[in-house]
Amino acid sequence: MSLFSLENKIALITGSSKGIGRAIAEHMAEQGAKVVVSSRNQDACEEVAAGINGQGGEAIALACNINYQEQLENLVTQTQKQLGSINILVCNAALNPYFGPSQDIPDEAFEKIMHANIGSVHRLCQLVIPGMAEGGGGSVIIISSIGGLKGSDKLGAYSISKAADMQIARNLAVEWGPKNVRVNCIAPGLVRTDFARALWENPEIYEATVSKYPLRRIGEPHEIAGAAVMLASSAGSFTTGQTIVIDGGGTIAG
Ligand SMILES: NC(=O)c1ccc[n+]([C@@H]2O[C@H](COP(=O)([O-])OP(=O)(O)OC[C@H]3O[C@@H](n4cnc5c(N)ncnc54)[C@H](OP(=O)(O)O)[C@@H]3O)[C@@H](O)[C@H]2O)c1
Repeated sequence: MSLFSLENKIALITGSSKGIGRAIAEHMAEQGAKVVVSSRNQDACEEVAAGINGQGGEAIALACNINYQEQLENLVTQTQKQLGSINILVCNAALNPYFGPSQDIPDEAFEKIMHANIGSVHRLCQLVIPGMAEGGGGSVIIISSIGGLKGSDKLGAYSISKAADMQIARNLAVEWGPKNVRVNCIAPGLVRTDFARALWENPEIYEATVSKYPLRRIGEPHEIAGAAVMLASSAGSFTTGQTIVIDGGGTIAG
């Protein structure tokens, strides 16, 4: 069996109706995982799931807004009911309602970012990891950002939340490693998705960004998916508590 095979695995991916989450769902399905496509929009999830099923994969669609505990609980119980116990959890959905200096961020926006980007990861891990442990182990992948590795004058609160993802991965890797549950982050640089559209559609911001990336371009969603497949598969079986940076070299360049 391939080192990267996900045969007989069940993967739950939040925010997988488009962008990075969708690419991860499609590539995990390609490797044999049964995947749950999830976002706030059931129709959009069904479309992606139908595409995967049409390609010979196996996917179901379950709507869930990560801001609500009861919806997270429903997502997990419905996944278990329809597919079985979860082996792979990808905490991908996140939000950023504010762009500007930390001094001026409205309290409501600050709370919203912390609740969604840190709180939902924490809560989903609480709901899923004990079952993984009972089943002999599993892999949790949190989609962080290179924003969590650098200071920022415009994305401060978002960057705090993305740095927290890396710490959640380290904490849970220590807590659950003895039960063979691995927890890691992926930290992408700028990727061509709707989430970051304001950055890559603006020619000045685009040029300023790629001029600092050794590969001189931004990333595409499928270029993040390979690392997620690796971390979920036996190729990643000794990797835990880590953050894999995928940014065209942006953070290592002077
Ligand atoms: N793109 C980048 O440059 C970049 C760089 C570094 C890190 N990231 C991280 O990558 C992750 C994915 O972002 P992306 O760029 O792929 O964004 P995207 O293309 O906009 O996709 C976001 C996904 O999350 C869903 N979503 C949004 N709010 C949600 C909520 N409250 N509950 C459940 N699902 C929700 C969206 O669907 P609905 O709106 O229909 O719910 C969609 O499926 C995020 O964690 C982001 O911080 C992105």
